Amino acid sequence: MRVIKNINDWKDAAFFWPRPYGLVPTMGCLHDGHLTLIKKGRLDNATLIASVFVNPTQFGSTEDFKIYPQDIEADLCKLDDQGVDIVFMPCVQEMYPAGFDTYVDVGQIASRLEGQYRPEHFRGVATIVSKLFSIFQPTRAYFGQKDFQQSLVIKHVSKDLNLNVDVVVVSTARESDGLAFSSRNSYLKKDERVAATVLYKALTGAIKLYESGLLDVASIRNEITRTIESEPLAMIDYVSISDAQTLVELKQIDRQAVAAVAVRFGETRLLDNVYFDY
Ligand code: PAJ
Repeated sequence: MRVIKNINDWKDAAFFWPRPYGLVPTMGCLHDGHLTLIKKGRLDNATLIASVFVNPTQFGSTEDFKIYPQDIEADLCKLDDQGVDIVFMPCVQEMYPAGFDTYVDVGQIASRLEGQYRPEHFRGVATIVSKLFSIFQPTRAYFGQKDFQQSLVIKHVSKDLNLNVDVVVVSTARESDGLAFSSRNSYLKKDERVAATVLYKALTGAIKLYESGLLDVASIRNEITRTIESEPLAMIDYVSISDAQTLVELKQIDRQAVAAVAVRFGETRLLDNVYFDY
């Protein structure tokens, strides 16, 4: 496994590595969720590239950029174990040198759900991912369904800017009690960690209602809200049931849809979602 810190080092090395290239962008502190993306990327591509970069532009000024968990040694071991070929670990200066002044601003799809709570977030995500696509020109790039709005934003970027990268979305990996793996789970206090299992409980409850024939969104949304509110440590930001392509809120489940929640447990804000297969 080769660790690259500078973009120029990749430019010098690129012609050695066989195509197709797969790219897995991450912010490190790798968990089993990240590893499902890496495993899929390893199977599909001749050369697998993983990036580890805590991207400052996607954090709001009051968010956790300065304390975002990092464990570089452990990450490198995990990536090596999975047979990753290239790890790209730039410093902030390498990605945003003095004078950097160009951002990728995604429209409607970025303005909904998370966009309401984190107005700068997807601009930062779209910018860094566009830069990674431009540097590595991968055939495929891998993103988690866990952050499904992010994956939709990136699909738009790839299509709208003709970046010609196939965006592959990999299903959410979960702990044995259903909580989706997330680097931010490490912030949860013991009682919050227990309380957080309510998210998967609420979302799987919604799937069961849908599978039993309930299509009315207000009823399903109420049931998700009721279940989450039964947990006193949970503070809901949103419970959304929307069109899985556009994120426009639905009244009936009459197409491929997604139920998405953002919920705070103390200082920690968690996201989760499930698809309704129509
Ligand atoms: P990060 O939170 O490190 O996540 C990297 C990738 O892992 C994302 O595509 C995310 O959706 C996926 N992932 C996280 N938890 C997962 C889980 N439980 N199951 C499956 N996949 C999961 O998302 C980012 O970093 C950044 O925004 C990034 C895309 C790297 C841009 O900076």
